[in-house]
Amino acid sequence: MIKAIRGTRDLLPPETALWNFVEATVRDVFRAYNFQEIRTPIFESTELFARGVGEETDIVAKEMFTWEDRGRAASDSGQSLTLRPEATAGIVRAYIEHKLWDRGLNKLFTIGPMFRRERPQKGRYRQFYQIDAEIIGPASSGSDSPARDAEILEMLATLLDRLGITDWHLQLNSVGCPNDRAKFNEALRAALEPVKDTMCVDCQRRAVTNPLRVFDCKVPEDQPIIDTLPRISHFLDEPCRQHFDAVKDILTKVGVRFSENDRLVRGLDYYTRTAFEFTHGALGAQNAILGGGRYDGLSESLGGPAAPGIGFAIGEDRLILSLQEKTAAESVLSKPDVYIAPMAAMNAEAARLARELRRQDLVVELGDENFRLKKSFETATKAGAKYILIVGENEVQTNAFSLKNLATGEQVQVPRAELAKTIQAKR
Ligand code: HAM
Repeated sequence: MIKAIRGTRDLLPPETALWNFVEATVRDVFRAYNFQEIRTPIFESTELFARGVGEETDIVAKEMFTWEDRGRAASDSGQSLTLRPEATAGIVRAYIEHKLWDRGLNKLFTIGPMFRRERPQKGRYRQFYQIDAEIIGPASSGSDSPARDAEILEMLATLLDRLGITDWHLQLNSVGCPNDRAKFNEALRAALEPVKDTMCVDCQRRAVTNPLRVFDCKVPEDQPIIDTLPRISHFLDEPCRQHFDAVKDILTKVGVRFSENDRLVRGLDYYTRTAFEFTHGALGAQNAILGGGRYDGLSESLGGPAAPGIGFAIGEDRLILSLQEKTAAESVLSKPDVYIAPMAAMNAEAARLARELRRQDLVVELGDENFRLKKSFETATKAGAKYILIVGENEVQTNAFSLKNLATGEQVQVPRAELAKTIQAKR
């Protein structure tokens, strides 16, 4: 038997109803904040992620699905391509490629699959889904303002509340700007120098190439050393500190609760200033439902003009796991309004009636003339239909149908023209 690849999975009904409920709510909330949808390709040039996300990050160094796209000629050297591990780099590439700065401030979102070769476990997959949103534009559009950071965070709080996930926890930090980062990296290098040889091989390398990435280390023996390292909060310059204070001030005034965590540096290199994660207790080790932050230099590092930006990605799989605690998929699943049961030789008449009712926006399940009445009732009940409607010769001739409420057993005779109205009234 051929099975789905480890780390990938089939999403089946009724669970898909929950995914649709989440995505419909997300689209609704995003609309209120004037975000518009963008769709970028699922694979991009490998260089985009190497330069955007950073060579030393776990994502780029270990987790990407990369292949060489060879042409037909054997001599073709080929281009290195990668399944997107995240959406931000692709969106910023599109911003540059289509000169979206002409539009001023861009508020964009996308929903789709991402790919990382991680060790699969609950809440961690190799193909997973992100709901990603970004605010990006030239500084003249106000894209660098702390008001945008606060807007994004307040929108997320609203969204989670709307979905019924109320026990979230927002962790907030500022990772500073390149100016602060250089000083912080220097301090980290100095602090790591005497201890790095006792750390894991990844940290030994990171200590030299990109010391900030030491904070991504998951090796338990390294954690006591990491705890003693300098903190980014001591290295913020005045403009970064003011930006961070302004974000916190707005959040406090609009009533979004948060806690500060100056160990939160996020696993991607492009972050500047505000960085954040929302966690949820139900998820155990994989407890980050979403993460994001500001990336004021990303466009330049991809060859574009200055374009400050801030955004986030929700791990949709994890969001659904949190939601499943409270909301049964069945409760958001739409059930048939009516099951049409044709008697012998009545398939065509039943199809005609189903067509009429579906065009009036009813959810109709259509049976088969070969079913005995008993089987039709069983099938209708199993499908969760509210009504069963019998189509026999008599009914067609008189143009009136018996409509039976499957829950109450109540049966009424309804003229064809009034069927849709009668069913809708009881919805
Ligand atoms: P990230 O923290 O790498 O950020 O991923 C965001 C979220 O995606 C995580 O919090 C988690 O919920 C989910 N996620 C990540 N990996 C997996 C996985 N293997 N299985 C299931 N869920 C996963 C980013 O991707 C940034 N691009 C976010 C961003 C947007 N920053 C600015 N704009």
